[in-house]
Amino acid sequence: MLEYLEGGAGQEATLDRERKAFAEWRAMPFTLSDEACRDVSVKILGRSASLPLALAPTGLNGIFMRNADIALAQGAAEAGVPFIQSTMSNDRMEDVAAVPGLRHWWQLYVFGGEEIWQELVDRADRAGCEALVLTSNAQIFGQREWDERNRTASGFPNLPALTDAARHPRWLVRTLSRGLPEFSNVIDFVPKDKRSFFDSANWIREQMPKSLAWDDLARIRERWRKPLFLKGVLNLKDVSRAIEHGVDGVILGGHGGRQADWAVSALDILPRARELSGDDIALYISGGIRRGSDILKARALGADAVLTGRATLYGLCAFGAAGVSRAIELLQSEMVNELGQYGVSNLDALSPDLFVREDRLPL
Ligand SMILES: Cc1cc2nc3c(=O)[nH]c(=O)nc-3n(C[C@H](O)[C@H](O)[C@H](O)COP(=O)(O)O)c2cc1C
Repeated sequence: MLEYLEGGAGQEATLDRERKAFAEWRAMPFTLSDEACRDVSVKILGRSASLPLALAPTGLNGIFMRNADIALAQGAAEAGVPFIQSTMSNDRMEDVAAVPGLRHWWQLYVFGGEEIWQELVDRADRAGCEALVLTSNAQIFGQREWDERNRTASGFPNLPALTDAARHPRWLVRTLSRGLPEFSNVIDFVPKDKRSFFDSANWIREQMPKSLAWDDLARIRERWRKPLFLKGVLNLKDVSRAIEHGVDGVILGGHGGRQADWAVSALDILPRARELSGDDIALYISGGIRRGSDILKARALGADAVLTGRATLYGLCAFGAAGVSRAIELLQSEMVNELGQYGVSNLDALSPDLFVREDRLPL
């Protein structure tokens, strides 16, 4: 389970880069500047959020605890930030939508025939989802070696993996006492004889069309009239193409290092992506955010907001919904403190010249 949460693809060079890219930037704090008001609130899709954050879509959260998607949604709702629910989540979309005060976004994976994504998109609309996030960089599943190490040739957990699970009885009882989680939102599309946990995961993976292309994005754009984001963009040409296709936002990032190996990180291309996009679209980044200072760097270099995957999942694994709230609170309080340390009063006053890259020292 820990490997599922922490792991990346291949040599994990992208995973590594996603953290290192943040470490390369140093602040040159201002002094004797007015630090009385340190405000990190922003508008996300025109509505106030307490910090520039949305919870990233993560599939199979039910392996961490039961009703994990609902717990993530509760933590997000408490902080007033969006929760992006994955197509591969385990709690039903409508049950998550019932969380009071939630800003609910739906992440779409395209698999099987057109009618599947059409039904999911219509259902997300009916459930009141505020935005749709199309993930485009996972049609071919990343080469996750830890995953291969834990499975038999037919895709089932092997003996060492099962032995490892048996050594964690508390987790087994808490999480799996009612059986393995189900991909509740898509299980009805899966043939009846393939609905067991491992069979359904393998079947869905096999049904993801490798030919997904810009035309598909255009068709999704046509059907979904609310805000649409394209997630998993790491090439500047694709930023331009996404804008041409009428998206409302682009989420730069490499899937938390779980897809293409040896890719740049979102932060690496962020300043150029912002130059290209101007203020035409919302520009978010995902990958490697662990601290409030990372979010400040992202904002200074051009991001409107960031997504956290693991940072908020750690909170979930520790204390459920309360842990998610605490993780968000920590990120926010670090942002507030660090903003003051840098001599900046609010996020709009952050500018790229506050930061310098280590390889450009001395100035
Ligand atoms: C356990 C796990 C599951 C994920 N599942 C999905 C998913 O179902 N859909 C998706 O678009 N991205 C998925 N991602 C990628 C995240 O949305 C996000 O881009 C990534 O976690 C950001 O990196 P970070 O974990 O360093 O914050 C997953 C990431 C993790 C760690």
